[in-house]
Amino acid sequence: MRRALRVLTHAASLALLVPAIALAQPRPTPSAPSDPAAGQRIFDAQCAWCHGNQGDGGTGPNLHGRLRHATTLTSVVDIIVNGIPGTDMPSFRLGLTERSTRQTAAYVLSLSRSASRPAIGNTERGAALYQSNGCGSCHVVDGRGGILGPELTAIGGRRGSVYLREAMVKPAAAHPPGYLVVRAVPANNGPEIRGIRVNEDVFWIQIRDAAGTVHSLQKSELSRLDREPDSTLMPSYESRLSATQLDDLVAYLATLRGAK
Ligand code: HEC
Ligand code: HEC
Repeated sequence: MRRALRVLTHAASLALLVPAIALAQPRPTPSAPSDPAAGQRIFDAQCAWCHGNQGDGGTGPNLHGRLRHATTLTSVVDIIVNGIPGTDMPSFRLGLTERSTRQTAAYVLSLSRSASRPAIGNTERGAALYQSNGCGSCHVVDGRGGILGPELTAIGGRRGSVYLREAMVKPAAAHPPGYLVVRAVPANNGPEIRGIRVNEDVFWIQIRDAAGTVHSLQKSELSRLDREPDSTLMPSYESRLSATQLDDLVAYLATLRGAK
């Protein structure tokens, strides 16, 4: 949630900045709508803070190799204009002109046609570490696992390696949309309930606790309801895994790119 807000303000401030920059810079030769070099400049300014330099990945996926959502110029343009609802991929409808959008899309397609740098870690060792560290007790991959955390079946297509490493080392630093931790204290001195907010409206809140049980609570019967945007139910693996083991896990997660 917090991230989504930050993204919005970021996108808004960028939208204000871009025309100013465009005015300040001399325009030597007008570039063609399909000019990937012009697209790269826009990408570096607007997209690289999530997709990494040269599209190597971060909060957003690595854009080398086959893309999951986008295969043609038109579909990439559509993603840039509309974003991908329900994910961290924002809409650039207000931030980019039609021409800049097409140039950026052309650059993204040129990236997708080039191979990415091979991951440093070892994917087989990573898969074994995933099993031995109990990641599957909270995450589903290919239909198997627990549901407390987000499904990871396609995580390699949704996030880059820098983000994946960070998710294991400092899980509280970044939250995928929809994983707010809340704490509810019943007014009748019943036990407090802490977990991930599944649903909320004016009268009710539903919380999934660490054991996986979903509690439906009437707000009028609570004495406290705290939101903990800086908390997470994912344990940190910083002190449990070596740097090499983290590399191996990242390499394994990067291979998870959706149902085969
Ligand atoms: C705030 C972070 C953020 C910014 C800024 C951002 N993206 Fe994304 N982008 C994402 C995320 C996260 C996804 C993956 C969404 C998903 O499928 O879960 C994504 C997905 C995509 C995809 C689909 C990839 C595929 O495999 O099909 C394309 C293409 C894309 N972004 C292009 C861009 C371009 C071009 C820009 C700049 C104009 C941009 N993005 C800016 C976060 C971002
Ligand atoms: C006790 C449950 C639990 C365990 C065990 C667990 N996770 Fe998580 N994980 C979560 C939750 C909850 C989130 C999402 C909320 C957050 O980040 O606060 C998450 C988020 C993630 C994300 C980010 C997903 C995204 O869409 O951005 C990755 C990657 C991840 N976990 C990988 C792992 C790996 C690899 C392991 C094992 C080494 C592991 N997790 C073990 C609960 C768990």
